[in-house]
Amino acid sequence: MADMNTAEFRKYGKQLIDWLADYLEQPDRYPVLSRVKPGEIKAQLPTAPPSSPESFDAILEDFNAIILPGITHWNQPGFMAYFGITGSMPGILGELLTAGLNVNGMLWRTSPSATELEEVVLDWLRQMVGLPPSFEGVIMDTASSSSMIAVAAAREALNLRVREAGMAGRSDLPRLTMYTSEQSHSSIEKAGLVLGIGQANVRKIETDAEYRMKPDRLAAAIETDRRSGCVPFFVCATVGTTSTASIDPVPAIADICAREGVWLHVDGAYGGNAAVVPEMSWVLDGVARADSFVMNPHKWLFTPIDFSAFYTRHVDTLKRAFSILPEYLRTAEGDVNAVKNYMDYGVQLGRRFRALKFWFIVRTYGVDGLIDRLRAHLALAKQFEGWVRAAPDWAVAAPVHFSTVNFYACPARIPAAQWNALNERILNAVNAGGEVFLSHTKLNDRYVIHLAIGNIRTEEKHIARAWELLQAALESEK
Ligand SMILES: Cc1ncc(COP(=O)(O)O)c(C=O)c1O
Repeated sequence: MADMNTAEFRKYGKQLIDWLADYLEQPDRYPVLSRVKPGEIKAQLPTAPPSSPESFDAILEDFNAIILPGITHWNQPGFMAYFGITGSMPGILGELLTAGLNVNGMLWRTSPSATELEEVVLDWLRQMVGLPPSFEGVIMDTASSSSMIAVAAAREALNLRVREAGMAGRSDLPRLTMYTSEQSHSSIEKAGLVLGIGQANVRKIETDAEYRMKPDRLAAAIETDRRSGCVPFFVCATVGTTSTASIDPVPAIADICAREGVWLHVDGAYGGNAAVVPEMSWVLDGVARADSFVMNPHKWLFTPIDFSAFYTRHVDTLKRAFSILPEYLRTAEGDVNAVKNYMDYGVQLGRRFRALKFWFIVRTYGVDGLIDRLRAHLALAKQFEGWVRAAPDWAVAAPVHFSTVNFYACPARIPAAQWNALNERILNAVNAGGEVFLSHTKLNDRYVIHLAIGNIRTEEKHIARAWELLQAALESEK
């Protein structure tokens, strides 16, 4: 009843590393966006599990024949949709060891290295983006979880005994309200609905012409809510919003939060990574005054998904919100607070050893190497923006601060009322080719094409090809 034998493990392990090396050397051999139809993968797989053993060769054969065609290749340098994310070879090797060691970092003693390396790499990252030492971190799976944790900590900070008494049926509990911009990520609203705040109590604050939260509207909304007996308790500002990568005015929002005694969370899931580049450190201006902050190295620091870095200046409040200590999890070192037991700082008990891959990445490239790579992406976005601005039939839809460009075709020969449909057709035509994958969003009812550079292998030739394909698709509309 043993595991696979080690000779086979060695053989297939080497084979898979070779497969991955070939794949990463030339990821553009596959169409970036999978071409399968809904249900096509499932239809090729048995509905019941195999009752007897199958050879690993047969499994790999099916991987190639069935699974691979259903993969959308985020590793492709032509993947520029959403926030194109990328792993990297040191990150993959770190993941391999994490899987092999299979430690559960719930307690310090269940792997001291997992806990202590997490503390160290999060402190490295804190320094890399220029936050003060008062920010302590926890690695989460995603920014959605990190922001939910922030809302839970903010709710705990109100001292309303929600932890003990819950929220339902309590006549003593005021209506709690939270605030974010109309451009912020849906995960903020989701945190509100998961934690019993309710969607109706999540205020979406209006943004300005550059898609940034208007601080005066935030102040007014808080005041209106207070007057009607609500308790405003949480504001989320975003550095790098999902559609346009706009940057909310964090210093002005921090002033309001300080005056109102409201928890300020900053969502820098994508944009926060840019602060690693010295000339981009301004994007986190004011964040030192926030109560919590999230950034995702899995979005733009070459870390295989998942790795979200959550920071707070109130780690004790976070612990108060989440810590439960059953007898079977008590340890001598935990009892005297000599160590951090990460199970105390979030929902999860079991925790993957995510710090290892990030440690590999930072050491392999060095901070300077990471800066160079991000700088190259920022420059590519500026270059692409320049091409769009110089083309009479195209327009840029929002300021370009990071590696994301939103733009649309607006040829004078086609009536403006048809531009939305036109841009949708252009996007579909470009994506169907399989060389690049772009996405879209809507800004003030305008359909815009969204190009985001985040892949470690994306070079000038890839954005040039995307631009060529976009222009050709517009040409073919004649
Ligand atoms: C600004 C912002 N915040 C949060 C998220 C959610 O990230 P995750 O997938 O890590 O939950 C995204 C996703 O793109 C995002 O753009």
